[in-house]
Amino acid sequence: MRYVNNSALNAYWYPVAEHADVGADPLPVTLLGDRFVLWRTDVGVSAARDRCPHREMPLSIGCVDESQNLRCAYHGWGFDAAGLCVDVPSSGPGVPAPPTARLHGCHVQERYGLIWLCPGVPVADIPVIVHDADPAFRRINTGVEIWNASATRMVDNFLDVSHFPWVHTGTFGSSQATGVASIELVDLDGDFHGYAYEVDASNPEEAAATTGSAEPVVHRRMSTGFALPLLVRSTIAYEDGLEHILLLCSTPVDDETSLFTFVVWRNDDFSVDAEETIAFDRAIGAEDKSMLEQVPGPLPLGRTAMVSVQADKPSVEWRRRFFALLDVPE
Ligand code: FES
Ligand SMILES: [Fe+2]
Repeated sequence: MRYVNNSALNAYWYPVAEHADVGADPLPVTLLGDRFVLWRTDVGVSAARDRCPHREMPLSIGCVDESQNLRCAYHGWGFDAAGLCVDVPSSGPGVPAPPTARLHGCHVQERYGLIWLCPGVPVADIPVIVHDADPAFRRINTGVEIWNASATRMVDNFLDVSHFPWVHTGTFGSSQATGVASIELVDLDGDFHGYAYEVDASNPEEAAATTGSAEPVVHRRMSTGFALPLLVRSTIAYEDGLEHILLLCSTPVDDETSLFTFVVWRNDDFSVDAEETIAFDRAIGAEDKSMLEQVPGPLPLGRTAMVSVQADKPSVEWRRRFFALLDVPE
């Protein structure tokens, strides 16, 4: 089922870029099949549909000028941070812009080092990650990638532990038993719904900077849960007290292409270089990416469209709730 044009999805927040991605130049992004432009002024980041109201030129090929206006490349109309046209050069000085010359704006927030868009009227806030305000934890942003996979398949994957010993053999998965213990879904803290579990994870040399351990296998107490529509959080606690929190963000560009970024919070002693501590997570993500890019199109959302077993309980529940929030005619 195609889903990105489903208007119910416009009421939620999606990370589309990192803070550092929006600098001096306007940035085009595509979310749920629509093109948006992000630009930064002294008052922060603004967002609007990437279309000039004059002759529909993408504003992202323009610039932010010295008066902090987004300037269209075609005829030079200027727009302020709120998207109001404040200058029409062809009309000459002192002539007001037509009152309808305003951009189709979009809600935008910066949170956790990410820029989040909500194309419609938000019905929920961005989920709270309490560790972000805890000085014992540092936050590591990792950049935004494009995956040739549906965000629905990514969420399904991130909620699933049964693929670990199959897909993640190059990283942490080969020490894990293939059987999955009975899963109980509960409301986790911070707006996430999911489950707690424990796994033995392989700890090759290249994982030492992440796990803080030189043991060949480390025990992890974990929780994994989702916040609708498409966010997944995994928490990992090691026996020595190290905690490693992952926010896995799957943002639909369209039905088959997605942005992927993850954010890490860790209560380590901040001594190891940030990039080194997430290198192992990057390698794990690359294993998921190469697997998911083999499957075309979105995940079927109907209850009986695929065969599921006990180990799929979290993703089946996510899929049920995701489907329920879409406006689908009976
Ligand atoms: S199309 Fe933007 S100013 Fe003409
Ligand atoms: Fe995975």
